[in-house]
Amino acid sequence: MEVELANRVLALTPSSTLAITAKAKELKEQGEDVIGLGAGEPDFNTPKHILDAAFLSMKEGHTKYTPSAGLPALKKAIINKFELDQGLSYKPNEIIVGNGAKHALYTLFQVLLNDGDEVIIPAPYWVSYPEQVKLAGGVPVYIDGLEQNHFKITPEQLVKAITNKTKAVIINSPSNPTGVLYTAEELMELGKICLEKNILIVSDEIYEKLIYGGAIHISIAQLSQELKEQTIIINGVSKSHSMTGWRIGYAAGNKQVIEAMTNLASHSTSNPTTTAQYAAIAAYNGPQEPVEEMRQAFEKRLEIIYDKLVAIPGFTCVKPQGAFYLYPNVRNAAEMTGFNNVDDFVEALLVEAKVAVIPGSGFGTPDNIRLSYATSLDQLETAVSRIHRFIMTKVKI
Ligand SMILES: Cc1ncc(COP(=O)(O)O)c(C=O)c1O
Repeated sequence: MEVELANRVLALTPSSTLAITAKAKELKEQGEDVIGLGAGEPDFNTPKHILDAAFLSMKEGHTKYTPSAGLPALKKAIINKFELDQGLSYKPNEIIVGNGAKHALYTLFQVLLNDGDEVIIPAPYWVSYPEQVKLAGGVPVYIDGLEQNHFKITPEQLVKAITNKTKAVIINSPSNPTGVLYTAEELMELGKICLEKNILIVSDEIYEKLIYGGAIHISIAQLSQELKEQTIIINGVSKSHSMTGWRIGYAAGNKQVIEAMTNLASHSTSNPTTTAQYAAIAAYNGPQEPVEEMRQAFEKRLEIIYDKLVAIPGFTCVKPQGAFYLYPNVRNAAEMTGFNNVDDFVEALLVEAKVAVIPGSGFGTPDNIRLSYATSLDQLETAVSRIHRFIMTKVKI
């Protein structure tokens, strides 16, 4: 039977990561030694004290529904974390816990946007932003973050992109895919414009804990009380505590928005999984050393791999200050090796060099590729030398 699907799903762009991941999997199943650098999640186990707390909560019988916006004890842990890390104070009715940061964002756009409302998305962007905006009837408006400006958008670009339909702008710092971090001054400039034009700021801070080279993470909400009121922060434990599979993320901000999100969640998910919420309480209230240990491991990999990557002919790369991705521009490498575009180059890297990376076309910048360093140093070094060798043989230099 032919089923006629809803227009809203027909308009969805398939995930750019899926095609290459599926092909990599197929090659692996055929016995090929493929190294995958597509991962969007830390390669560490969830720390043991978090696992123990989850197990204990089940044994103690905490296996029932919770309030839709999350357990009061988890909200308290999140509020403490905001106070401690960022000096931000929130009330429980200004927080909603969702099934991952992705779901918190999805619910947010559903309650914010009417048909035709515009959301400004700096490119390169995380692949789900445009799709989530479209699913809520909104229109993504892209600003190209220029490579010479480290992919950051400028105040002039923001002003130009604003129309009378603009509802919100997304700031993702540190960014997926570039790893770039905005400074307080840069955020202040952008924030001033948002205040002046009454535009909401959606600040996705999911990679907040993964920053390197002594850089400091600043939330735009920290810069003034007015900016805090204009901002909805999105965060979660997925990347910081290596808890991607637990699905716990949250939104913090304006209480009317949070109340609307809570109403919607009460009719969609009821609540995030109870056991996962107990695990997240342990993540925030327990020792933070594992978070720092994982951060250090990522930083060590970045330092080693970045130098090797930029030594590859035709590769240039803005050095990331956060997250766990490298986002080199490889247009010259693709041209030197006889490919018309980076998508074809990526396909050849997979089939011939046996390295799976994600083409930048899905992130809004088709000259780049995304490599994740959430894999062992050994694998990373082998992968990068395979790419290097691939290029050297193709251009015969
Ligand atoms: C920028 C960004 N925001 C949000 C998320 C979603 O995080 P979660 O796994 O908590 O849903 C991701 C995950 O890859 C991400 O890269």
